[in-house]
Amino acid sequence: MYQLTINGLTEQQFLTQYWQKQPLLIKQGFVEFADPLDANELAGLAMEESIESRIITNQNNDWQAHHGPFENFELLTEQNSTLLVQAVDHWHPAAAQLLEPFRFIPNWRIDDLMISFSTPGGGVGPHLDQYDVFIIQGEGKRHWRVGMPDASLKQFAQNKSLLQVEQFPAVIDCILEPGDILYIPPGCPHEGYAVENALNYSIGFRAPNQRDLLSNFADHIIDKEAGNKRYQDPAITLRESKGEIQSTEADNVKQLMQAILEDDILFKSWLGTTLSQPKHEMDLMPPEDLFSSEQVSELIADDEIIFERLGGTRALYQVFENEILLSINGENYTLPESDLSAVKLLTDHTTVTAEQLNSSKNSLLFVQTFTTLLNEGIWFC
Ligand code: SIN
Ligand code: CO
Repeated sequence: MYQLTINGLTEQQFLTQYWQKQPLLIKQGFVEFADPLDANELAGLAMEESIESRIITNQNNDWQAHHGPFENFELLTEQNSTLLVQAVDHWHPAAAQLLEPFRFIPNWRIDDLMISFSTPGGGVGPHLDQYDVFIIQGEGKRHWRVGMPDASLKQFAQNKSLLQVEQFPAVIDCILEPGDILYIPPGCPHEGYAVENALNYSIGFRAPNQRDLLSNFADHIIDKEAGNKRYQDPAITLRESKGEIQSTEADNVKQLMQAILEDDILFKSWLGTTLSQPKHEMDLMPPEDLFSSEQVSELIADDEIIFERLGGTRALYQVFENEILLSINGENYTLPESDLSAVKLLTDHTTVTAEQLNSSKNSLLFVQTFTTLLNEGIWFC
């Protein structure tokens, strides 16, 4: 287990003073940091079809981006190159442990663990991200500069896929050593170049924008064949100008659209599916012999059993109208409120003992739901 310390701040002090406000250098956030994998293992992951990876090179200031999977690593030269692998928490249980210390932030906001390996001089260049990130320094050292958000900062379009920006004044300028962590809020320009071969672990967060939310909600209502109410105007009167859309009519259209967002059941079921949807493939290995509900009841009654949650699983819940809407990897399950403590255990923790689930062992709906989750390989024992 990794134990996080934030420069002597409590988690609440960090949230109040820094989260989404200003960058922070956390010296020795992890004392005696042990890398969960090495560069060879990372390269192995980058050879897999189902894992998203890139190699970025900056030889003689010529920035190039190459997309995996990679058959060989000729591009990963001894200088000025970086290999980046996305969503490693889905594939590597030991690396997934690095997300755990950051779960004091609501879990629906956490996205994935990206790992990079850079050779001296290697980095992705000056850029900004639209989401918060904690960058942990593993093996090696890397020189980082971080600035404050600046709307006038121009994009620097040498390689469009890298979304680089022009040079910026730094408020943090430091050489990260193993166990040091940088917290970078959205919109803060940053750049990091390896001083020696370096592994970096980025805990990324999700911050959906209105465009994505609305288009995703529209897909949901199409899927559910909801939103059938039409515009009506029984009180219409003759008017002088026929070409005008009157402001009351514009308001009525807006209200018609808002009414569907006010449908609480539709909204929350959509929210659960969308926020729990993994963005990357999962390493699902369903059991060969499927469990029956009776077998799962017996498993829950066996105090020795420990259930583990598959890496990358997004497990969230909402409580409304005396029910719980449990959302796992894009699927919703409705459970009675009496299962709340069991649901909290499944969503707040990556492992749970059968003994802890005891309070729900006689809940038919809970046992059925957990049977489905075990049969899909999302929890296993
Ligand atoms: C990296 O590890 O090279 C990239 C991390 C970042 O800048 O977001
Ligand atoms: Co970044």
